[in-house]
Order: sequence, then C-alpha cells, then structure tokens
Amino acid sequence: METQQHIAILGSGNIGLALAKGLVKAGIFAPEQITLTRRNVAALSALADEGYNVTADNAGAVTRADIVVLAILPQQLNKLLDEIKPAANQTKHLLISVVSGVSCQDIRTQLGLDIQVIRAMPNTAIAIGQSMTCIATDNASAANVSLVLSLFDTVGVSIQINEELMTSATALCACGIAFFLRSIRAASQGGTEIGFHAHDALRMAAQTAKGAADLLLQLASHPEQEIDKVTSPKGCTIAGLNEMEHNGFSSAMIKGIKVSAEKAGALYKTE
Ligand SMILES: NC(=O)c1ccc[n+]([C@@H]2O[C@H](COP(=O)([O-])OP(=O)(O)OC[C@H]3O[C@@H](n4cnc5c(N)ncnc54)[C@H](OP(=O)(O)O)[C@@H]3O)[C@@H](O)[C@H]2O)c1
Repeated sequence: METQQHIAILGSGNIGLALAKGLVKAGIFAPEQITLTRRNVAALSALADEGYNVTADNAGAVTRADIVVLAILPQQLNKLLDEIKPAANQTKHLLISVVSGVSCQDIRTQLGLDIQVIRAMPNTAIAIGQSMTCIATDNASAANVSLVLSLFDTVGVSIQINEELMTSATALCACGIAFFLRSIRAASQGGTEIGFHAHDALRMAAQTAKGAADLLLQLASHPEQEIDKVTSPKGCTIAGLNEMEHNGFSSAMIKGIKVSAEKAGALYKTE
C-alpha cells in the first residue's frame, strides 16, 4: 500500500522515530514523504542522511503534510499546538496523537479547530515492529480510522477501542511493557539463585515468557488452560505458583495496573 501523502511527525523521540522507520520499512512511505521535527534538530542528522526531511519548524512541517502525528510529551503539547495553530487546516489535515492522557476534544479545543483527531497508544515494542497499539477517535471518518489502523499495523498489531478506555490502554499496553519486563527480570533473578549464570538465566526467562505469550496468541487459548497442562498433582509447578499467589503475585499486578491507569489519566491535567 504505497501512498503519495506526506506525513509530519512532530516530536521525533522513541515513538515518533520508531513509527517513521516502521512506515518506511513497510514500504508505505518513502523517507522523502516524512518530515521529522524536534527542537534539537542536530540530533536528527543521521535521519536527514537517510532522506527524511528534518526541521525544528513545526508549523512549516504541518503546512507540507496531509497527516500530522503529535509525538511529544503531554506537558509539551499545548505549546506545540499553539505553534501549529496557524498552519493547521481542518479540511486538509488528519491529526494522530500518541500523547497519553489527552483527549481528541482537548486537542481540538486548544487548536480552536473542528479537525479530525485520532488517538493512538502504541508501546515501545514499536521499535521492533511488535507494538500493541490501541486507536480511538470521537470524530474521524471510518476511512481515516482504517488508514491509521493500517499505519500502526506496520509496527505491530492495532485495534480500535472506545476513547474513554484510552487511559486504561496506556496502563495495560504501554506501561505494560515495563510490567512484563520486570516479571522476566524477577524470573531471571530466581534462575540465578537456583544455579544459572545471570546472562543465561535472563535469556532463558525471556524465551520462556515469549513462548507463554505465543501459546495464548497462536492457539487463542486461555492462560489457565495452558497452566493446567503444566501443573501435575502434588507437582513442582503448582507448588511454585501457589507460593507466588500467597505472596500476592496476581494481586500486585492488578493493583499496579489500576494505579498506573489513574496516574495516566491525570498526566496532562496536572503538569
Ligand atoms: N514511551 C512509551 O512507551 C509511550 C507509549 C505510548 C505513548 N507514548 C506517548 O508518546 C509521546 C512521546 O513519547 P516518547 O517516549 O517518544 O518521548 P520522547 O522520546 O521524549 O520524545 C519526545 C520528542 O519530542 C521532541 N519535542 C519536544 N518538544 C518539541 C517541540 N516543541 N517541537 C518538536 N519536537 C519537540 C523532543 O526532542 P527535543 O527535546 O529535541 O525537542 C523528543 O525527541 C508521549 O506523549 C507519550 O505519552 C509513549
């Protein structure tokens, strides 16, 4: 699916750059069709060498673009929106925001425009094309939603959800990367205590976690169904599992995700 459109990615940090590279790798956009912005534009010189347009001029980038991606931090958003206000055109532009905790309406209100806005919540696995990305909108056309789903499908798996669930998606999928990484790290520390060198233990734990995730994704089965296959009566797996549960394993994960979602909802409003 090659396109003639031009895309401006305002804020070329972790997420912005990973998206740009994913779109190019998938053959949807050529680097020349992508403008990357950041204030420290010198940090983008390697990307300029690859053919991307790079600039610190956000309004100029918007003027040239059909699709505008907002990929700055929540506390940087209002200043950026004020900067691009004169260049934004509600009949021409589609805005995609990856900014956590900011609604489509917040963006339109700050811009003072009735522009189509689609929120996207990817995670850092976007860098390796394995993001879980949630998409939501309150006013964009079905065609634009399909377009944005197809853009994020180039860097993982994307689904559409209701906008009121976006802060929950932030906690479960974006922050979730850290939660699962810490679980793998903990497993590797256990592995070292029972006899493996640290680097082997980490690799073994990570591959085991990947296998567990793929059992669910590829077989479309339920965790308990797969757990039942590992737990023999009076066996070592159920003993370990129950010990973890007596120490609050599931409860800690559930409580952490709830706190994370509360915090995600408050980021834009409080800073
Ligand atoms: N990381 C995640 O897991 C994740 C997941 C989902 C969503 N998000 C959301 O995605 C957004 C970006 O996150 P990130 O991790 O990519 O952050 P990041 O790495 O800090 O990137 C932000 C970029 O924005 C640039 N920037 C700041 N102000 C700017 C301005 N006025 N004009 C142009 N560029 C500007 C910064 O560069 P300069 O300082 O050089 O300007 C930086 O490169 C955040 O809102 C975050 O909530 C993050």
